[in-house]
Amino acid sequence: MKHLISISNISRQEIEELFQVAEGVHQSLSNKVLCSLYFEPSTRTRLSFEAAALKLGMNVLGTENAILNSSSAKGESIEDTIKVIGSYADIIILRHPDNDAAIRAATISNIPIVNAGCGSNEHPTQTLIDLFTIKKRLGKLDNLTVGFVGDIKNSRTIHSLGKALKLFSNVKILYFANHGLDEPSLGDIQKNAEDLESSIGELDVLYLTREQKEKGSSTNSPFVLSEELANRMKPNSIILHPLPRNEELPAIIDTNPRAAYFDQANNAISIRMAIIQKLLVKSVELVK
Ligand code: NCD
Repeated sequence: MKHLISISNISRQEIEELFQVAEGVHQSLSNKVLCSLYFEPSTRTRLSFEAAALKLGMNVLGTENAILNSSSAKGESIEDTIKVIGSYADIIILRHPDNDAAIRAATISNIPIVNAGCGSNEHPTQTLIDLFTIKKRLGKLDNLTVGFVGDIKNSRTIHSLGKALKLFSNVKILYFANHGLDEPSLGDIQKNAEDLESSIGELDVLYLTREQKEKGSSTNSPFVLSEELANRMKPNSIILHPLPRNEELPAIIDTNPRAAYFDQANNAISIRMAIIQKLLVKSVELVK
């Protein structure tokens, strides 16, 4: 059985193959059922996975507020819930506040589990969308300087993309943390968000995130990208954000030619169609 739990389980070659599937002709999966199981709020992840499934001809069922609307509210374990859904659906897309929920689910599941963001550790499908967007906009994934800004401590999209970028050559990663939201294990590649000003001209990709307030991240002084700072970026650089955004990314930046975050949201459909196909079509190997 194959699952998509961590970006660490995917090779560079598998990522490149997935991009080919995303850009190719999609296979019909009309007899298959996708189950959405969301224990945390979601807009893009849930709706784009469901749209991807519908475009593949699949049927979709699930619950968007599983903490209240599934038997979790009656004390059922994630393991029992997953075991039961295994006889109703062909693939489960799981979002959960616990870091280990996807791996626990995969351990007992007889159908593929996709980690749609669990805790603050991992969000591998967002990472594949981020990489695809960089590749489409900049034409490469090697020889890049990437700056992550904001909630370095709790942003799962930063954690997963930071791991994935290590698969590519000559990628320099810089972290700029909001006050108190740094990740001690990163050492001296991590700076304060105010230091972004002196490095902004080096970046090919500026990756912003909101403070994850629901995970206890909240400062009185979040970094806010000004128009002036955005315009000091290289002309052929891009600004990414997994969305939803808060104050860190004012709407005025949307007309900047470097803004690529709505492309990112649009790319979700083809990448998630490719992920579903890779997991459900037996002839295609991708994810261990
Ligand atoms: C992210 C998430 O849920 O981690 N959203 C998303 O999936 N695009 C980012 C966030 O919530 O800040």
